[in-house]
Amino acid sequence: MAPLLLLLPLLLLISSIAPSAMAAPAHTSNWAVLVCTSRYWFNYRHMANTLSIYHTVKRLGIPDDHILLMLADDMACNARNSRPAQVFNNEDHKLNLYGENVEVDYRGYEVTVDNFLRVLTGRHDPAVPRSKRLLSDESSNVLLYMTGHGGDQFIKFQDAEEIQSHDLADAIQQMHQKGRYREILFMVDTCQASTLYSQVYSPGVLAASSSKKGENSYSHHLDMDVGVSVIDRFTYYTLQFLEGVRTDSAATLESLFRVYDPRLLMSNASFRDDLFRRKLDEVRVTEFFGSVMDVKHTPSGYSGFTGDPTRRSDRRRSEGEAKPRREEREATAAAAAAASELEVGAGDEGDWVLGVSCLLIGVTTVLWHKALRTD
Ligand SMILES: *[C@@H]1O[C@H](CO)[C@@H](O)[C@H](O)[C@H]1NC(C)=O
Repeated sequence: MAPLLLLLPLLLLISSIAPSAMAAPAHTSNWAVLVCTSRYWFNYRHMANTLSIYHTVKRLGIPDDHILLMLADDMACNARNSRPAQVFNNEDHKLNLYGENVEVDYRGYEVTVDNFLRVLTGRHDPAVPRSKRLLSDESSNVLLYMTGHGGDQFIKFQDAEEIQSHDLADAIQQMHQKGRYREILFMVDTCQASTLYSQVYSPGVLAASSSKKGENSYSHHLDMDVGVSVIDRFTYYTLQFLEGVRTDSAATLESLFRVYDPRLLMSNASFRDDLFRRKLDEVRVTEFFGSVMDVKHTPSGYSGFTGDPTRRSDRRRSEGEAKPRREEREATAAAAAAASELEVGAGDEGDWVLGVSCLLIGVTTVLWHKALRTD
């Protein structure tokens, strides 16, 4: 017991070095950053685009605390909205996108280039709450969706400022350096959209957009009741595809990217996969629009909290039950080992060993800190 505890500082040191040496982390979480950059009533469709994607990723399993929703204007409560507190992406008015369950993280004048870059890079004022931060790590797949008015190498934020493709590329590089993503799917619905990701140079980024350089992106249809266009074409056909996707669907990004017909879009959808490590027909849509769940199946109930496991197995034997299954026996043995360790810790001898070990760890830590300081 004692020599083991003496090794603890060394183990701590090793474990703090190990992660940086590891390659290709597993995919363990999903995040989404959904940004509508437009203000004003006539840009209703951009908010509807964003809310539609928001509902889709929620339906496919990304929890709200892993979604950063940025909406520059509040169409639902606009005085011109003939259907107050509601937003629709279709003239059939079947789905109110602004129902009870919409958590906007950045709204109104909070949707700025500055805040957007802070969300991506994680450089916040300490007072910013966790709900407004992208807390992804090197095992996270991040869906980044943007819509608004753009042009060659930029997208406008609220008619007041714009973000340039170089700034975006550098922000993504910072994310890469800080281990804030494993893979990114960057989708843009705006005019000349493909120019916005043309400068990206970080590994693991896949990008898709509604139009090429020199092309406009168009809205899908007008709602005579609401009085404005309610959705853009690229997002409309994306949603049409995603409506057929369930959490267990095997649909791939390749099949999604194939649905964009230039005749329907009135622009050429564009893609970029030179930085992406995998083939698109091997990547499920749900790897970005859904959520991985790290679920562990146990063959039997967890017995760690049910007291003395040895006594239980005694009881089982006396009741003439069949032999416990192998997994159960292993679990029992592990629990028994843990229990006996606790007993050592609780005894007089255990206290003594623990005391000396703590002292040694303390001394080692102090010396270690001293050594670091003189460097
Ligand atoms: C799509 O690209 C082709 C080839 O560059 C071009 O001829 C065509 O006009 C574009 N389509 C639209 C709808 O802009």
